[in-house]
Amino acid sequence: MDATLARWLVSADAQAALAVAADQADPGSLRSAEALRRRWPAERAAAVLSQVTLRRRAAAKFGERAPGLFFTTDALEQATRADVASWRAGRLAAAGATAVVDLGCGIGADALAFADAGLEVVAVEADPATAVLAAANLGDRGRVLCGDAEQLATDLLADGAAVFADPARRTAAGRSWRVGDLTPPWDFVTGLLAGRLGCIKAAPGLPSNVIPDGVATTWVSHGGDLVEASLWSGPWPAGERRAVLLPAGGELVAGDRGAPVVGEVGRYLYEPDPAVIRAGAIGTLADLLGCHSVNPGIAYLAGDDLVESGFATAFEVLDSLPFDERVLRSLVRDSDIGTLEIKVRGLDVDPALLRRRLKPAGRAAATVVLTPTPAGARALLVKRVAGTG
Ligand SMILES: C[S@@+](CC[C@H](N)C(=O)[O-])C[C@H]1O[C@@H](n2cnc3c(N)ncnc32)[C@H](O)[C@@H]1O
Repeated sequence: MDATLARWLVSADAQAALAVAADQADPGSLRSAEALRRRWPAERAAAVLSQVTLRRRAAAKFGERAPGLFFTTDALEQATRADVASWRAGRLAAAGATAVVDLGCGIGADALAFADAGLEVVAVEADPATAVLAAANLGDRGRVLCGDAEQLATDLLADGAAVFADPARRTAAGRSWRVGDLTPPWDFVTGLLAGRLGCIKAAPGLPSNVIPDGVATTWVSHGGDLVEASLWSGPWPAGERRAVLLPAGGELVAGDRGAPVVGEVGRYLYEPDPAVIRAGAIGTLADLLGCHSVNPGIAYLAGDDLVESGFATAFEVLDSLPFDERVLRSLVRDSDIGTLEIKVRGLDVDPALLRRRLKPAGRAAATVVLTPTPAGARALLVKRVAGTG
């Protein structure tokens, strides 16, 4: 979308077209395109229909707010989930921020949350069309400037506002996380944290060696999905590693606790939330649950008591077998298993391929956990008893 089309889309003039598009059962259909094209030029018809499709898709991230917002496909994909943006804004506000500069705001998911938290918002976006949509989304609740964050940051931050940046990948290719692919550049945005309250959002796979000294890091999961790592400068201890579980809000700090001790697979097996694993807080979680690890370096915890915790999914261990495909095939056949969930850590096994080879065709459902243990690789037949996963 170019900026001229974006300006029309957010104008009062487009309201009637958006309303007609919103009434279409299938806005992606030829029939809808024809209906809209009878009244509007093809480019505008396509723009409102795609906007309606994006708004429907956006409900997963933005809930009831989605139908009132403007998106592009890329910007929606990159937008922070509303619960996560709201947590971030609350954390910055609680740390004393009253104003924030959002450097690379996309359609403004984070910027909106900052405004909701009562912060004064100035947002910068390099892409002209996206900037038009962000301005419409923010309305009179914030200022959006179209320009390069690297050129505008110094002036905008001069009055002591907090800084936020959520750099985009320069290339759409691949899913790997490379610092050199980010824009605004990683060194530039992380450099802005020095001596200033702020937060930089990054992909959850952020390698430890690119985290600058002096910042605290949070790994955030939302509904069990690991969604981001974020770097913080402000009242948080330098070097702190913290897991944050949303929407419930549970937080666990890794602390100095090293790896948990290793012991036998007990009556219960715990699968930590991915944010806890990434934050390196497994040892802290083991203490909290009164558990041990099933193998060095493996993120499954075990114990004989059931402890309900938002930080881990608990499974009752029904059987523990040596990991041997023939043994598993017999189990699947003899137990009439048709729906088989396979979880693997620390073993070179592709669960989908293994499932196909085991040919589950019965009526029962089962979960099998494959893990190394000091006594060899085990296949644990388990039943989920508590937690989110
Ligand atoms: C990951 S998105 C931000 C998403 C946003 N936090 C949200 O939740 O909606 C990053 C944005 O930064 C913009 N951007 C990249 N480099 C920039 C630069 N140098 N100056 C300003 N904006 C930039 C991109 O166009 C993109 O829209």
